[in-house]
Amino acid sequence: MTAAGLTARRAGPLRGRIRAPGDKSISHRALILGALAQGVTEIEGLLEGEDVLRTAQAMASFGAKVERLGDGRWKIEGRGGLEEPGDVVDCGNSGTGARLIMGAAAGYELAATFTGDMSLRGRPMRRVLNPLSEMGTRWAGRSGGRLPLTLQGGALKHLSYRLPEPSAQVKSAVLLAGLNADGGAQVIEPEPTRDHTERMLRAFGARIEVEDRPDGRYITLPGGQVLTAAKVRVPGDPSSAAFPLVAALVTPGSEVTVEGVLLNTLRTGLFTTLREMGADLTVSNAREEGGEQVGDVTARHSALRGVVVPPERAPSMIDEYPILAAAAAFAEGPTAMRGIGELRVKESDRIALMAAGLAACGAQVEEEPEGLIVVGAARANHAVAGGARVTTRGDHRIAMSHLVLGLAADAPVEVDEPGMIATSFPGFVELMRGLGGEIEA
Ligand code: S3P
Repeated sequence: MTAAGLTARRAGPLRGRIRAPGDKSISHRALILGALAQGVTEIEGLLEGEDVLRTAQAMASFGAKVERLGDGRWKIEGRGGLEEPGDVVDCGNSGTGARLIMGAAAGYELAATFTGDMSLRGRPMRRVLNPLSEMGTRWAGRSGGRLPLTLQGGALKHLSYRLPEPSAQVKSAVLLAGLNADGGAQVIEPEPTRDHTERMLRAFGARIEVEDRPDGRYITLPGGQVLTAAKVRVPGDPSSAAFPLVAALVTPGSEVTVEGVLLNTLRTGLFTTLREMGADLTVSNAREEGGEQVGDVTARHSALRGVVVPPERAPSMIDEYPILAAAAAFAEGPTAMRGIGELRVKESDRIALMAAGLAACGAQVEEEPEGLIVVGAARANHAVAGGARVTTRGDHRIAMSHLVLGLAADAPVEVDEPGMIATSFPGFVELMRGLGGEIEA
């Protein structure tokens, strides 16, 4: 059966002000920490995308009382710990959900079986299972450490763990397990990754120390800590805001503002890169909200030029390479993205799918084992050809990136599985239409 696709075509300029959906990383964490904590946690601005709704369901199955009060407003009553779930925990498409919940559950006397959709069942879980096993967790499942698997939680011992790959998910899993470990846990990050878990743990009353040393960032969490419920205000997701903003940058005559975007510098590598490419990207109304920097980001159509993206910037824009690759197709000259091997184990192999999709749309691309080079098509009045049906393998960001490309390409671009967009950006199509974009079934 072929699912109905969605097609984006060039129309007029994009104009308007919108609000980005709630940050996905922070939304998952708010639900998980709320379930671990004692008392009632109130969340505002929660992303109601499928990934996060799975986490909400999962936390209910671990014994928390989870209630939706209204648009983005949720209440979660934790019991200061997790109980054994009565059924399989299905994390859907979400690596963040699966990995963080495994870490959170590891310190409790319970058995929990985790599964997910076809994409998640193919993704590596050893990266969390290895450190959790060192702490004393047992697990059984498919060879290679893929879902489905059953985790047996219980008494944990201290671990000091140097991350082999820059991963906020692995860091978070170890820290959440550390809450219940004898002696706590320490994570050493050679390169800093998003720090939402650390910030939120503090907001929930945990003691946690962060120290930058020459060989990395040391994050130390004493054990035996029970969290206290808190109020969480979820800022707009910069990884979602990236799509309408890049759409404005590449569509002549456009000006789009996305309000309330999270501007934590561990998440803004894309904005830095776009500015280096010549993007007219400005921030207004910069403020602090719920312990995070936020602001309104405005993008105006710009002539972009290719750049070399420093590999060390990757953790701060890891989910944004697909949309950067789409932007790069409109730039003048090559954009080199290297040190991004992690992209091959995301919801899909994002290096391979962007290379294939952009090539099908007439862009010149070169795929490397851990990199992607896109040679932009911009010469006077020359756009990207488009005119292709693109395979997304159910990856929301691959789908949105190619739809954005289609809004400015010479010929329409179709994506094959648009339903998956709802994992991170429900309402994406309507929102882009509201700005003047032409996207149709
Ligand atoms: C996330 C961390 C990143 C990112 C993912 C969300 C998080 O994954 O790609 O979308 O919320 O911690 P890794 O930790 O695997 O890099």
